Amino acid sequence: MESKKPFYITTPIYYPSGKFHIGTAYTTVAADALKRYKLLQGYDAYMLTGLDEHGQKIETVAKEKGKEPQEYVDQMAAQAKKLWETMDIKYDDFIRTTEPRHEKIVQEIFDYFMETGDIYKGEYEGLYCTPCETFFTETQLVDGKCPDCGREVKPMKEEAYFFNMKKYADRLLEYYDSHPDFIKPDYRKTEMINNFIKPGLEDLCVSRTSFDWGVKVKKDPKHVVYVWLDALTNYITALGYKSDDDTLFKRYWPASVQIVGKDIARFHLIYWPIFLMALGLELPKTIMVHNWIMMKDGKMSKSKGNVVYPELLIDRYGLDATKYFLLRSIPVSQDGLFTPEEFVERFNIDLCNDLGNLVNRTVGMINKYYGGVVPSYSGDKNDQDKDLEDVTLNHKYEFENKMEELQFSNSLGEIWGIVSRCNKYIDETAPWVLAKEENKEKLDSAMYHLVQSIRFVAVLLQPFMPETAESIFEQLGINKPELKEWDSIKEYHTDLKNAKVIEAGKPLFARLDKEQEIEYIKKEMKK
Ligand code: MSP
Repeated sequence: MESKKPFYITTPIYYPSGKFHIGTAYTTVAADALKRYKLLQGYDAYMLTGLDEHGQKIETVAKEKGKEPQEYVDQMAAQAKKLWETMDIKYDDFIRTTEPRHEKIVQEIFDYFMETGDIYKGEYEGLYCTPCETFFTETQLVDGKCPDCGREVKPMKEEAYFFNMKKYADRLLEYYDSHPDFIKPDYRKTEMINNFIKPGLEDLCVSRTSFDWGVKVKKDPKHVVYVWLDALTNYITALGYKSDDDTLFKRYWPASVQIVGKDIARFHLIYWPIFLMALGLELPKTIMVHNWIMMKDGKMSKSKGNVVYPELLIDRYGLDATKYFLLRSIPVSQDGLFTPEEFVERFNIDLCNDLGNLVNRTVGMINKYYGGVVPSYSGDKNDQDKDLEDVTLNHKYEFENKMEELQFSNSLGEIWGIVSRCNKYIDETAPWVLAKEENKEKLDSAMYHLVQSIRFVAVLLQPFMPETAESIFEQLGINKPELKEWDSIKEYHTDLKNAKVIEAGKPLFARLDKEQEIEYIKKEMKK
């Protein structure tokens, strides 16, 4: 393991304020796909997720449920872990901010900042949004309401500690400038600079006295540490930073990719790097900001009755189809949309028609013309074969580039590029005509090329839809592990000797009755 290169991926730690819907699940599904991709490429990939359990919001929700906060978050942690198990998320560690391993280090970090003078005592007066745990100035409000969630803010005044953000503003800008991969996609950097840094970075209030469900400031325990300072440090406390055993920290820090949704970009692209600079630590290589999954009538919310939970889709349509939809539906530059219509359509078109039929037809033809044994290839290719080879390799190359840019939807698009080319290839070569004409050489080559290109599809699909990829390998009779590895698609040709497709191909996805399923999803959403 030591010889493999470390690759550390994090998701944000989630607020356990309610059941996670498909939007919240997105970040973790994306991180999981990235982890699997990096494992496939031979990295020692390590993924962290967890829960952000402190703060007034959680305290309030617990109270509403008639529970002590700790009892409430314990129950939510079990629920979150169960969902990730259902979704087959391969995380390596699950950190909870109420764990002693985290709280102790948060206190030490706060103390350290007090010693260095980065944190100083003052008084805070401002407009506070309780659900977002954030103070705003008058000018930051939108229509007099919280700019992040649109809810009421109320005036608050309290003695508080502040973090000297101003001191680091120039260093942060220089860092942005000299590290073009630090923020992906690039336009988020411009947003940060124009909306927050250029207008002048305010010092950040990093303690609260109005409630006490949080980490106590050791030297002044009537204060609790601001939930964002507490939460952001999870990415290093989970690795044992400043603890007796910091082996993981030494191995995995700085993080390779930290994935966050657009609503929390400011905290991760401004405050987080500044905290790290103040600690004298390296900054993550890349922070990737993704857009949101929206509903026709805006954000998903219980009050609107438009929430879709992952379980609804997984139970009826399977895990892979659910993951596919999530990762395919958010473009790089705008929000994605969930509608029952689009879900069913993508299922029927992308999964059943395009991918499922391709595999099914290929398996069927090899059974029919070759008794199931994939024919060997004489090396005498024609223009159509050559084109299929080039297009397949080219999509694979583009797939790698798009994964490098963390563009998950576009990466899937590249895989489907191979799928479409294969379907077109079947139409062009018309194997049934070749069989009739007894053009053995051309038919051999056509079947061989289809199997190779579909094998590329299956190898590339593994991080996103592992069960589907495995089923394709099985149907094609590709059992050798080395033919499923990343290295096996370095070049187009591999030895397929002894590959025998299964006797009766099974449809990868069963076609859905459109009207019926749209109704079903709508009805379940209302429940
Ligand atoms: N607790 C903070 C993060 C602290 S990290 C140090 C938080 N938690 S959250 O539970 O509200 O959000 C978790 C993740 O879900 C975030 O990345 C957020 O952007 C994402 N999403 C929430 N709703 C979403 C959609 N509708 N679509 C896509 N992602 C969404 O923020």
